[in-house]
Parts: sequence; structure tokens; C-alpha cells
Amino acid sequence: MDERSLAVVLAAGKGTRMRSRTPKVLHPVGGRPMLAHVLAAAREAGIGDVALVVGEGADWAPKAAPDADLYVQSTALGTAHAVLAAESAFRPHHEAVVVLYGDTPLVRPETIATAVARVLGGADVCVVAFEPDDPSGYGRLHLDPNGHVRAIREEREASEEERAVRLCNSGIMAIRSGAPTAALRDIEANNAKGEFYLTDLVALGAERGFNMVWMMAEAGEVLGVDDRVKLARAEGEFQRRARLKALETATLLAPETVHFSFDTVIGEDVMIEPNVVFGPGVAIGDGARIRAFSHLEGAVVSPGATVGPYARLRPGATIGPDAHIGNFVEVKNAAIASGAKVNHLSYIGDATVGARANIGAGTITCNYDGTFKHRTEIGEGAFIGSNSALVAPVSVGERAYVGSGSVITEDVPADALAIGRGRQVVKADRSPARRGGREGE
Ligand code: UD1
Repeated sequence: MDERSLAVVLAAGKGTRMRSRTPKVLHPVGGRPMLAHVLAAAREAGIGDVALVVGEGADWAPKAAPDADLYVQSTALGTAHAVLAAESAFRPHHEAVVVLYGDTPLVRPETIATAVARVLGGADVCVVAFEPDDPSGYGRLHLDPNGHVRAIREEREASEEERAVRLCNSGIMAIRSGAPTAALRDIEANNAKGEFYLTDLVALGAERGFNMVWMMAEAGEVLGVDDRVKLARAEGEFQRRARLKALETATLLAPETVHFSFDTVIGEDVMIEPNVVFGPGVAIGDGARIRAFSHLEGAVVSPGATVGPYARLRPGATIGPDAHIGNFVEVKNAAIASGAKVNHLSYIGDATVGARANIGAGTITCNYDGTFKHRTEIGEGAFIGSNSALVAPVSVGERAYVGSGSVITEDVPADALAIGRGRQVVKADRSPARRGGREGE
């Protein structure tokens, strides 16, 4: 962490184009709020302090950004005005201030760190630029013949010639403390929107002989989200990156059909079949296989285990080494020990399943009595016959055997056989009478 740097994260815009009750920066990308991505990137870039600028009444902010100092910009009068709303966060030990945006979630830590390093290395202002496919709407960089940035022209104010420029302003800017940050106060609102533009610092700096530099970022990482089309685009870019990262160690049979979360951990030699969704909080151990159409969230899958096809792992599911979770099996808040098998059509919730236990098709742990949740304990090597209901709280001891179709309401000791079902009755030659003599009609 470099105490010499401060990030000012702007999030005071109204976000009306999202047409949502949820504040714009809290809309998720890769399973976590956009703002959390930006704050994490700042942290990973080694930024010492973070100031978050929000609009009036942003009661969501303290929870969304617990480590940031909050500043309120009561009226959104422009990006320079927003940065100055956090002016009291600028402390003497801060040598560089980097401006980030709560709605630009994919910014890479390396980009932030480089911009800050340029300033710590002697630049007064470092503009982060990019080249989008379609530059319309963005501020354009105006370079002098030596390639130095002299101004940023907003689209509204740009001439036809300036609009032809493809090099755009990402909005991210690192500014040296002192004269350059003080110059923010000299920016005037003499433009089409009547706003105080942060981008005007560039022309002002050039005029004052500041050392103005610029650097490139990838277009994907500086994508700003102001409506749901762009939110979907940001999600697409997030997934593209996540898939590439997963492909470093795992085989994905159809990468474009697998969805990751910001914190998905994939081990070595993992096989992921098509149409798998990883919600937040999932870790997959080395050599595990996640079969098609499985949905995992808050779950740990140990090395060598197999999950799916069509399995659902919910929060608190821990699948032990070499265990098998098969089709149409749901596991919630349950530890399945090594080598255990739950292969077909089961619900295992609030339970422990011992090593090498075999859970027959259609087994249900009845964990909820309508008011409280209760636990089911299944011992090592136990065998639960198909279509059994284990009514919790209940335990089945090691190596015990439950006959299929049982409803188990009492604990079963180790090595015991438990059968809890109506006895079968067989009545010889009674079938014709049962059919009312219609046989062969
Ligand atoms: C800004 C840049 C533009 C750049 C583009 C990249 C300016 C004047 N223009 O334009 O050069 O190409 O970003 O996306 O800076 N905000 C506040 N308070 C305000 C105004 C804005 O917090 O008073 C926040 C908004 O929440 C938003 C961000 O700043 O997240 C950008 O503001 P916006 O006015 O949308 O700027 P752009 O038109 O995108």
C-alpha cells in the first residue's frame, strides 16, 4: 500500500438511465456491485486512501464502501466539482490523487497503478485514454505535434475535425497534489452543459506549463455503465476475462456458456462442461469435474470430486475429495465427506454425510419442520436405500443400512438395519378379482 496516493471515486450521478430503484453503482457485474469492483481495483493497485463522492441521501454508501471516506456532492455540477467535493480528503502526505468512477467496474489495478506511478515519477497530470470502436459521446484527446496532450474536448464542444479523433478520454486521471490539484478550483463552467469539467484541467495545465502525460488503457476496462445495455456489455467483458483466467488451468468444453463470479476459484486440471453457473463463493479443487447444467453458489468442491450433470450446490455445501454428486441433486449447508455418493434425485440439507456413504436415489433430508431447521448426521460407510426420508434431527450411524422407502424418525445406531415402511402384502391369485373379471375382454 502506498500512503502517498488517494483515490477519489465519483458516484454522485443520478443514474436515471438505469431506470432502477437500486443505486446505479450497486448493480452487480460478475456477482458483486460495480462499486465494489472499483474499490477492490484501487486496493489492489496499492492506493493508500479512498474517498467516495456520492449524491444527497445516499444511505447505502457506508455499507457499500465501509473502508472509504464519504463525501457528499449535493448538486451534480460536473466531474471537477465532484472531485472538489472530496477536497478535504486531500492530505499533505498524498502526492497523487487518482480519479475513478463507481460505474466503471472493470478498470484494472495495473492501469490505476501505472497512472499513479507516472505522477509519482514526475508528471503533473496523467490522462488515461483509450480507443473505442465508436468514439461518439466521449471526450477526445487533443495532442500537439510532439504527441503531448494539450486539451480534452467534450463531444458537445468539439469541432467536426476534433470529433474525427479516435483517441478518447476514459475519465480516469491521476493528478499531482499541489499546484495541479489546486488548479481544479480555477476550472470554469463555460461550456454547453454549464458544468465544471474535470477534463478542462488538461488545457489549464498545458497553459500553466504543467507536465501533462497520457497513457492507454484497453477499451474493455474503461467501459462506463449508464444503462442496462452497457451493464450487459460490462458483464460480457467480465465473463470474457474470467473465462480466459479459468482456461489457464481448466478445460472448458464450451467457455462461452460458463458463467463465473468475481471470486470463483478454479484449481488445476479441472473439467467444466457446458452451461455451468458459478455464483459467488465457489472454489473448485484440482482434478474435479463439473458436469453440464450445474449451478453452484457458496460451495467448495474438493479435488477429484464430480458434480452434476444438473446438480445444484447451495451455500454451505462442501463436497469432499472424490465424492460424487449426481443429476438432480441439491446440497445445501451440508458436508459430503470423501468418496461419498449422492448420485440421483436427492435433497441433502443441513447434514453431514460420512466418508464412502452411499445415498440412494430420491433420498430427502427433511430438515425443516415449518419453524426450525434441524440436522441429519449420516455416518461413514452408511447406506441409505432409495426413496428414503430422513426426518431431522436424526442420525444414521457408521455402516448402518436403511431399507429403501423408509421414513426414518429415530436415530439408527452404527451397524444396524433400519426399515421404516409399510409391509408388503402378497395375496395369491387375487389379481383377476381385483380387475373385476375384465381380464382378456
Ligand atoms: C466523462 C468525461 C469524458 C469521458 C467520459 C468517459 C468529463 C467532463 N467528461 O464524460 O471526457 O470521455 O467521462 O466515460 O469529465 N459525476 C459525479 N458528479 C457530477 C458529474 C458526474 O459524481 O457532478 C460522476 C457520474 O456519476 C459518472 C461520472 O462522474 O459516474 C461521469 O460523469 P458524466 O457527467 O456522465 O461524464 P461523461 O459525460 O461520461
